[in-house]
Amino acid sequence: MKQRHKVYGNIKNTDPEAYRFITGELDRQQKGLEMIPSESYASRAVLEAMGCIFNNKYSEGFPGKRYYGGQDFTDKIEQLAIDRAKRLFGVDHVNVQPYSGSPANQAVYFALLQPGDTVLGMQLQHGGHITHGLKINFSGRFYNSVFYGVDKQGFIDFSQVESMLKKHRPKMIIAGATAYPREWDFATFSKLARKYKTYFMADIAHIIGLIIGGAHQSPAGKADVITSTTHKTLRGPRAGIIMCNGKPSDPLRAPKNPTKRDIPTLIDRAIFPGLQGGPHEHTIAGIAVALKEASGAEFKKWARQVVKNAKALAEVFIRRGFDLVSGGTDNHLILMNVTGKGLNGKEAETVLDKIGISVNKNAVPGDKRPPYSPSGIRLGTPCATIRGMKEDQMKILAQAMSDAMENHKSPKIVKKSERTVRQLCRDFPIYPEL
Ligand SMILES: Cc1ncc(COP(=O)(O)O)c(C=O)c1O
Repeated sequence: MKQRHKVYGNIKNTDPEAYRFITGELDRQQKGLEMIPSESYASRAVLEAMGCIFNNKYSEGFPGKRYYGGQDFTDKIEQLAIDRAKRLFGVDHVNVQPYSGSPANQAVYFALLQPGDTVLGMQLQHGGHITHGLKINFSGRFYNSVFYGVDKQGFIDFSQVESMLKKHRPKMIIAGATAYPREWDFATFSKLARKYKTYFMADIAHIIGLIIGGAHQSPAGKADVITSTTHKTLRGPRAGIIMCNGKPSDPLRAPKNPTKRDIPTLIDRAIFPGLQGGPHEHTIAGIAVALKEASGAEFKKWARQVVKNAKALAEVFIRRGFDLVSGGTDNHLILMNVTGKGLNGKEAETVLDKIGISVNKNAVPGDKRPPYSPSGIRLGTPCATIRGMKEDQMKILAQAMSDAMENHKSPKIVKKSERTVRQLCRDFPIYPEL
């Protein structure tokens, strides 16, 4: 293989086999375009933080309350990440230790519920996440999951949300999704949660960057607990974060008769020692760096452009006769049913892969097809926007994608779309210094 990469020299010397795969993935990311909406390109600074010497350190516990010595700098870096998140969201308490988004959600269940309690979440097929109650996930196995979904137009059906609250009296309601293209009305969820006296958890894994960037409303002050990943629109390391309000955490003492004011302590104790051992301080360093980047003016501009780009893509797809769930988008993603164009979601994913674009097959609301070969695809704009692409490039991309999907049996047309995509990737490079 051509050795054009300027970094990873130590890996190359120690393990040429691993080096081949790492640089192969770098090539793939540079020459193609990631349009999976849950993905982004972390900055070099974030990647450096994740490869730093905090990897070597055990730090069970929390800043100032550790079970191992030598914590001068782990305490500082973790506190830095916590303080930055607190400032950005205006919350009393932040835990940056969850290993990822799913463990963050698991910690909330563990902190606030008992096995068998009822949880109302968004139906998976309508956009919810597996940790919101899928039968074979911990959430569906140990808790009684009931669901709300979207209406015929593809928007959250609040009359169904309320009737489910009335009928099932859940202990917790979750607002958040993995494939919902519209803005969340956290105020209405909050009002309903208070009316039916249920905990309200907002899972903002997909939209955290849009919220920080001011493109979407924040659930802070409305939800009892907020969870998120840090590697999607936050553009940070692969990890999770939990935010809430209440009294300062006292993780060494279990609160007697806990109230909502004790949620910070309950969350911390659920993470450690409830579910996890040593926090990944190198990842937490990456979260700190990502939060610093997210607090700048450039990030705000980026977040707004992400939404503009998704809308520009959607406009072309609609004009070309594609069936978009909810008829468009308010955020970073588009969910579309492709079966009207003579292919299924799996086939669409494959043909788009051929033209250098990664998307993912996805069920659409009411899908009759099996999960491995559903009717739709989900695609998003965070990565294209990091590369600097704007509405004009979105229009070119949407035409190239439409051409390829509509003519997926024509190698000539597919090839032409591929040339367009590869050229755009050269014109808008990512990690050019690597
Ligand atoms: C809404 C939502 N919550 C939680 C998660 C879980 O994140 P992770 O994959 O990091 O466990 C995801 C991931 O896609 C998600 O979309």
